[in-house]
Amino acid sequence: MSAQYDAIADRYRRTRASPLRRWVEIPSLLRLAGPVDGLRVLDLACGDGFYSRQLAAAGAAEVVGVDVSPAMLALAREASPPAGGPIDYILADAAELPDLGRFDLVLAAYLLHYAPDTGTLARMCGHVYRSLVDGGRLVAMSENPAQPSEPPGGYAEYGFSKHCERPLVDGSRIRYQMLAGRDVFAFDVHWFSLETYERCLRDAGFDRLRWSPPAVDPAGLALHGEAYFRRYLEYPPVLTLECRR
Ligand SMILES: C[S@@+](CC[C@H](N)C(=O)[O-])C[C@H]1O[C@@H](n2cnc3c(N)ncnc32)[C@H](O)[C@@H]1O
Repeated sequence: MSAQYDAIADRYRRTRASPLRRWVEIPSLLRLAGPVDGLRVLDLACGDGFYSRQLAAAGAAEVVGVDVSPAMLALAREASPPAGGPIDYILADAAELPDLGRFDLVLAAYLLHYAPDTGTLARMCGHVYRSLVDGGRLVAMSENPAQPSEPPGGYAEYGFSKHCERPLVDGSRIRYQMLAGRDVFAFDVHWFSLETYERCLRDAGFDRLRWSPPAVDPAGLALHGEAYFRRYLEYPPVLTLECRR
């Protein structure tokens, strides 16, 4: 599973400057994560450690970042750690997660849709559940089952395209092409129906699931205008998910 991000680690990191990531994805996830003062946080699919650093800087007592890609983890380890609790980075597959102890919050920003099949998705959900204390929360961002491919007009103005293979069945491959400037690259994720996501989460033990479309930060709206974000918000390619153990 590590190969795709080993090849695109640095190019992926540069997408963080895009208005969508800055004004939609990042504020949506951090708002949902809420205050993390004194919490133990597990950042699954931590990539270059962006959210691990954000959460440590926001007061988390301890952050453990896990990723399957050595190249992404190398970027995470190179980055200057913020003042705050310690961050530990661990190379592991979230579908085969070793026991890392219990956490108050698990963040899974773009993880679940890397499961290539339902069995792997179920294992990931099981590991997340087992990693949480009672009352702990999973905060995730994952593929929107209602938007397997891009809408008419596409997402090119946001710097990417998205196409899902047919027939549409659990595990169908979705190809993302990132189109920004000279940094054209592609990666694949997988589609699952809402029912399949929810069955895997409930079978793992979660019973309170809340899906929401991402929202734009008011400062981003003021800067880029409502029209810029309109199509993205009308056809969100991803959703946030919050589950409590
Ligand atoms: C789109 S990046 C997101 C990185 C980070 N969460 C962020 O939002 O900046 C997806 C990450 O998921 C990691 N990943 C994919 N499948 C994984 C798995 N089975 N276990 C752990 N990490 C995985 C990739 O290596 C990559 O770093």
